Amino acid sequence: MVRPLFRIGAVLNAPAPRPLDTAPHPVIVLPRPLRFGGMPLLDALAARRTSREFSDEDIHLDVLGELLWAANGINRDAEGGRTAPSALGGYEIDIYVLLSTGSYRYDAGAHQLVLAAPFDLRATTGYQDFLSYAPVDLLYVADLNRLQDVPARQRESFAYASAGAIVQNVYLYCASMGMAVGARGWMNRTALAANLKLPVGSSPLLAQTVGHFAHAH
Ligand SMILES: Cc1cc2nc3c(=O)[nH]c(=O)nc-3n(C[C@H](O)[C@H](O)[C@H](O)COP(=O)(O)O)c2cc1C
Repeated sequence: MVRPLFRIGAVLNAPAPRPLDTAPHPVIVLPRPLRFGGMPLLDALAARRTSREFSDEDIHLDVLGELLWAANGINRDAEGGRTAPSALGGYEIDIYVLLSTGSYRYDAGAHQLVLAAPFDLRATTGYQDFLSYAPVDLLYVADLNRLQDVPARQRESFAYASAGAIVQNVYLYCASMGMAVGARGWMNRTALAANLKLPVGSSPLLAQTVGHFAHAH
């Protein structure tokens, strides 16, 4: 039973959640996304790459709103369709947005951030040094209860496929905008689930760090 022991060890070794300097906003309404522009798709594909050198420069709220819309926002208002696919339209991935000013869940329908934990949890998401200063960490959390119509043994792999589609959307948005980004699977899922008080049945699958290139200023 190596896995439970590893998980307990991971909790003990996780950095503590960082208290905030000022009280967080309970809700952050994001500016309406543009839904047009950016690089031609093939140019963005040609530029897509992983970065691990970030500056500590913040991301403007309008860029964060565009990024989250590109990631998994609503692109068909009438039916609530999203920019990333999901098996049977279960849309089982929630994006948690970990900022220096608090940890939020992206509510795609309202296009706003809802406070999940009044802490800076960026450094608790993994083990790489840039996590303490890169401005945004996106955490992809699956709620497998939304995949009731998918056979139980396929739910997790289908959720990983959905998360992978979101990861690529974010890579392409960042390539298009000249921003630094890196997907991350090496992270502390147990500590994150505890710190975010995720409900039973919800589990963090992947993370992705977003910011500006280290040489940008
Ligand atoms: C599922 C997944 C997990 C990953 N986990 C990490 C990670 O924990 N840390 C990291 O630095 N890069 C991580 N990466 C990024 C890969 O290392 C990167 O995509 C690979 O080196 C190829 O480089 P490229 O993205 O620039 O083409 C991950 C990528 C994927 C798809």
